[in-house]
Amino acid sequence: MPKPFLRWAGSKKKLLPELEKYFSNDIKTYIEPFVGSGQLFFKLPINSAVLGDTNAHLIKTYEHIRENPEEIHEILSGFPCGKDEYYEIRKEYNKGKTGIYNSALFLYLNTFCFNGLYRTNNSGQFNVPYSPSSGHIIDLETLLKISQFLKKAVFIKGDFENVVLENCNAGDFVYLDPPYAIKNRRIFNQYGPDSFGTNDIKRLKELLSEINYRSAKFVLSYALCDESLDLSDDWNSEVVNTTRNISGFAQHRKVEKEVIITNIEK
Ligand SMILES: C[S@@+](CC[C@H](N)C(=O)[O-])C[C@H]1O[C@@H](n2cnc3c(N)ncnc32)[C@H](O)[C@@H]1O
Repeated sequence: MPKPFLRWAGSKKKLLPELEKYFSNDIKTYIEPFVGSGQLFFKLPINSAVLGDTNAHLIKTYEHIRENPEEIHEILSGFPCGKDEYYEIRKEYNKGKTGIYNSALFLYLNTFCFNGLYRTNNSGQFNVPYSPSSGHIIDLETLLKISQFLKKAVFIKGDFENVVLENCNAGDFVYLDPPYAIKNRRIFNQYGPDSFGTNDIKRLKELLSEINYRSAKFVLSYALCDESLDLSDDWNSEVVNTTRNISGFAQHRKVEKEVIITNIEK
């Protein structure tokens, strides 16, 4: 299986050993409505998946890689690397290009931007700075493998609730990893102005009941806070430790507690 290829704020790379435990081979469709870099999706031996996110550029990029990996690679390979070049490419991206060219720009910026952030200003302009310590342009062989792997997935740009309600059936497995919205804690909104917030907790809570009612399984990861206590009310839950980079710097790590909430009996 190919490795996840995107860098993404809030990625669940470090939580994978805890999350994988809940997976069983008998699931029908894997549904991940807050997919980001899809760390868990890339780890599981699944045959069919529905992956959603509100980030339209992210969803388009997945689709273009699935359908046209060679073309993406050809465009990407023509982009120069370096700090000044990064800012030129960022300017180009912010002209609002469309199609596969835009996805190649997105992939380039994701490779070289600080901490894999996708942050825009009030006018929707991507404004994440260059990070000298980040990666390399992805090679064609890897892109072809990823493209093949993505063929099992349907991608949807949309809100988590619709993605689940329109696709979840008995026997499916839904992994939910929303941005951690916490009342009374001002959290830097990493995913844009329309991102999941504390007002969406009620909808999320009702969705968990609906998934259970449809005889599907769910696993939800969240920060340990009042909101997650509320969400876990009717379900099984376990608290796990994870490490987080403070302000995105790997040298400054702290241990944080997260909660896994599920309708699966261990
Ligand atoms: C914590 S990240 C998911 C990380 C992912 N599990 C990974 O391993 O990379 C949360 C994602 O939810 C998306 N998002 C924010 N609000 C959303 C909403 N209302 N519906 C669907 N996706 C949303 C963000 O764009 C972001 O990609």
